[in-house]
Amino acid sequence: MPIKAFIFDLDGVLTDTAEYHYRAWNRLADEIDVPFTREENEALRGIPRRESLLTLLKGHPTTEEQLQAWMSRKNDYYLEFIREISSTDVLPGARELLEEIRAAGLKSALGSASKNAPEVIQRLGIAHLLDSVSDGNSVERQKPAPDLFLHAAGKLGVSPRECVVVEDAAAGVEAALAGGFWTLALGPVTRFPVAHHILPGLENIHLQELLDIFSITDF
Ligand code: BG6
Ligand code: MG
Repeated sequence: MPIKAFIFDLDGVLTDTAEYHYRAWNRLADEIDVPFTREENEALRGIPRRESLLTLLKGHPTTEEQLQAWMSRKNDYYLEFIREISSTDVLPGARELLEEIRAAGLKSALGSASKNAPEVIQRLGIAHLLDSVSDGNSVERQKPAPDLFLHAAGKLGVSPRECVVVEDAAAGVEAALAGGFWTLALGPVTRFPVAHHILPGLENIHLQELLDIFSITDF
């Protein structure tokens, strides 16, 4: 089946907001006196806000009211960071790839667990290059469930086998595989137990190269 579309994760794929999520969680963890390391943050990549907080708390007893207050405090810190984002913060190669996809008549969608995704793509100046946006408000079950990517494919009117999901998180790759999508994982090979193809990032990666890779890869 020919590839007709690409679904891009946002944080850590199109821009480096994964680092801002880490810094915001780290600041909260310091304030509430919970140990939190960069290594532990790896497990939070792609994971929604609430599950991230529960993981960070490591079973520390709390109330629903307190959880809500901490989630909101972390989001305030995150919003402070993203206020500074502009078109220069698109990761190398990402804008060029979106433009090539558009020029070739293929489709691009956003598939991000973040409720802040619409604001981030506006600030990056790439919203017009995306044919649809699925975000943290689009589905109930988040990654590693396949629902968000299935939602994106449905909006584009393509089947999972006609779509490549581009992800920087193991949970995101797991979600894409569960939905029957092709997966392009971005980051160190040690992060991904399984994926169809792994690259360090999108810099100097062109559409034709990706189409070639996925035309010879076995599902
Ligand atoms: C994902 C990030 O894209 O979005 C996670 O990788 C984050 O780190 C999740 O927790 C939810 O984001 P937000 O902006 O809704 O808190
Ligand atoms: Mg990500």
